[in-house]
Amino acid sequence: MSQRVYIFDTTLRDGEQSPGVSLAVSEKVQIARQLARLGVDVIEAGFPISSTGDFNAVRAVAREVKGVAVTGLSRANFKDIDRVWEAVQYAEQPLIHTFIATSDIHMQHKLRLSREQVLEAAVAAVKHAKSYTSSVEFSAEDASRSDLDFLCRVLAAVIEAGATVVNIPDTVGYTTPAEWGRFIETICGKVPGIEKAIVSVHCHNDLGLAVANSLAAVASGARQVEGAINGIGERAGNAALEEVVMALHTRKDHYNYYTGVRTQEIYRTSKMVSTLTGMKVQANKAVVGNNAFAHEAGIHQDGVLKERTTYEIMNPDMVGISSSKLVLGKHSGRHAFRNRLEELGYILSEEEVNKIFTRFKDLADKKKNISELDLEAIVEEEMRRVPHTYSLEYLHISSGTTIVPTATVGLRQNGQVMEEAACGNGPVDAVCKAVDKITKLTCTMTEWGIDAITEGKDALGDVTLKITLDGQKVYMGRGISTDVMEASAKAYINAVNKLVWELRQAEKNEKNESENNGS
Ligand code: KIV
Ligand code: ZN
Repeated sequence: MSQRVYIFDTTLRDGEQSPGVSLAVSEKVQIARQLARLGVDVIEAGFPISSTGDFNAVRAVAREVKGVAVTGLSRANFKDIDRVWEAVQYAEQPLIHTFIATSDIHMQHKLRLSREQVLEAAVAAVKHAKSYTSSVEFSAEDASRSDLDFLCRVLAAVIEAGATVVNIPDTVGYTTPAEWGRFIETICGKVPGIEKAIVSVHCHNDLGLAVANSLAAVASGARQVEGAINGIGERAGNAALEEVVMALHTRKDHYNYYTGVRTQEIYRTSKMVSTLTGMKVQANKAVVGNNAFAHEAGIHQDGVLKERTTYEIMNPDMVGISSSKLVLGKHSGRHAFRNRLEELGYILSEEEVNKIFTRFKDLADKKKNISELDLEAIVEEEMRRVPHTYSLEYLHISSGTTIVPTATVGLRQNGQVMEEAACGNGPVDAVCKAVDKITKLTCTMTEWGIDAITEGKDALGDVTLKITLDGQKVYMGRGISTDVMEASAKAYINAVNKLVWELRQAEKNEKNESENNGS
């Protein structure tokens, strides 16, 4: 009989550890809602002890996202675990995830602890977590490079202490499928009490083997796979969950496992993650890349036209890639508009619907056919709930092959419009410099890119860029418009708003701390 494999999504924790990615609380909640719709079993929403922002995000996801287990990461110490519980206690199904490294290399050089000390800390951590909740996951960091006998001792001890899930990470993406399969098989056969826990794997992609290793582990007894949408994560990333799920689904004849994932939600989830993290999906990426279902060679096209399965092992509909449907027209009313948004999975307040409806009407004046993808892009842009300290009021650009590009920008702040003009090395540079003059922040742009949301000359341009103030923390901004310069200005202002908001939060926290210390 076919058996269930649980899907543990760490897009919002390990995924957010991708260089340059930083999600606001509202963005994490939005992605988490979509992950719940996708049907993952667990959402790891952050690492609560690491920052107030991460704590707030985990707590918000726990409070607002239902029908899924919610967890946060903690090292194997009481302070970390207490903080996770503070955040996840509001979840329908709270889970505490605690970890400690078990490889000699990590224990000696990083932790400076002996094997016995690590074993003791692991057991104490699990017992402490159990005092809060029945669902506790223990991860043995760098398990793939750990001494197998020692690892088995640790796993047996944490199961005895009450761990309900034991996660075996290939933290540095070092293992290979055959080796990993044998490793997991040994653990499943050797660890006393292993049948009381779910065996999980968490594979990194340093050698491009994360998905293959995860599947090999499933074939050898693992019943939970951890990973991230689009494979994002630390360094080369985590196992791409959409690939794991579709491999199990498409090759059920071979693996004979099923997951709770609604595969039709895969493409929408991938798009949302890519949009909000600013991490683009490569065109030839399996399952969700732009070319994943494109046929270029004449022989292939001919074959697919005669019979789709000649060159397609998956139906694009199955992952939710349908030909972009026309949604609504210029004359559509607010009621139909709200219904369509709900069908697309956006449950919004009256105020939000009104805001998006205004954007939709503006767009309908410029663009004849508005598709589902256009609508989703507008919603996602409007839903970024970092307060709009600055908003674009107007923009004039003078540019050409023989003149110095100049931009005049009007920004609204607290009801007042401020105007500045600047020259630049190109029109985008001129726009950003004019914005900087108003905000009095001199930001450096580290990345700028544009995508067309749909086809055609009147397509919406989707600009994603990254800025930094101190050279360390990077803020991603996104703006969409049928005008590339307007999209760039909006993206830049969006990133600046995130930066300003964070500076304010930091100031507030500092003030609170000094007040608390003084009292
Ligand atoms: O890669 C890793 O080992 C991790 C653990 C903390 C689960 O992310
Ligand atoms: Zn990891």
